[in-house]
Amino acid sequence: MQRQLNEQSGEGAEHAPVEGDGQPHRPDWTIDQGWANYTAEEHAVWKTLFERQSKLLPGRACDEFVQGMKNLPIGPDQIPDFAALSEVLMKKTGWQVVAVPGLVPDDVFFDHLANRRFPAGHFIRKPHELDYLEEPDVFHDVFGHVPMLMNPVIADYIQAYGHGGLRAKELGVLDKLARVYWYTVEFGLVRQPDGIRIYGAGIASSFTESVFALDDPSPSRIGFELERVMRTHYRIDDFQESYFVIDDLDELLALARIDFAPVYERIKGLPDYQPGTVLPGDRVLSRGTGRYHQAKRAGASA
Ligand SMILES: [Fe+2]
Repeated sequence: MQRQLNEQSGEGAEHAPVEGDGQPHRPDWTIDQGWANYTAEEHAVWKTLFERQSKLLPGRACDEFVQGMKNLPIGPDQIPDFAALSEVLMKKTGWQVVAVPGLVPDDVFFDHLANRRFPAGHFIRKPHELDYLEEPDVFHDVFGHVPMLMNPVIADYIQAYGHGGLRAKELGVLDKLARVYWYTVEFGLVRQPDGIRIYGAGIASSFTESVFALDDPSPSRIGFELERVMRTHYRIDDFQESYFVIDDLDELLALARIDFAPVYERIKGLPDYQPGTVLPGDRVLSRGTGRYHQAKRAGASA
């Protein structure tokens, strides 16, 4: 699930799984995956996405992602069955995958995570829209997220995010917390002895961003720092202008254990940063040229 929060209000885009009565099917918004209903064409879209991404990710995805993928019942030929995935995940880290029809309300989303249930879109993108995603589909959610849920650190971290989300909503600081999720779970990079690697699902499931995030000179790659990230806007409609890099996945475990309330208090009223801004205090691993987004902006205003 990729939270496309409105940065101003902190509210998520919400699409109700409604029937004729206008009410969600179940209070937790889950639906049956309906695996038997996938068509040959839908399985073929999965295969295309799976095969091109599997070729691209060796040497790009972090070791934990590769290992998680290896141990899951995920292959090229079929859209995975969530029940089979959950059986393996449950044994390893106590997580399960539940099907949802699209984005769900924030409190429902956080409650699932806090209870180690990962809500995954049950639908798959159309063959002519392989690189365009309006809402997180089964390829993003399963291929991108589930391998990392096999890792005990990420398993704990995402559960803590669920608890933290419920709390942040009460405190009115959801936009700050959402940025942490965005720049870690979705678009995070990690240092490994052999180089910077991908662990964020938004990158790992994207053919184009898997290359852009690591190889393109345009974005900046900056050492992760909590307050800095909480104050940084992100792009929901394009590649990121900055990526934040953790030194080790254990850095996330430390994050899962700290109380964010004093941090929210410290940054209250302080200005936010634009996505491409590099600050004097940043630990810059590679400073971006910014060319990609400059060209986009120039094109848009021409
Ligand atoms: Fe996601």
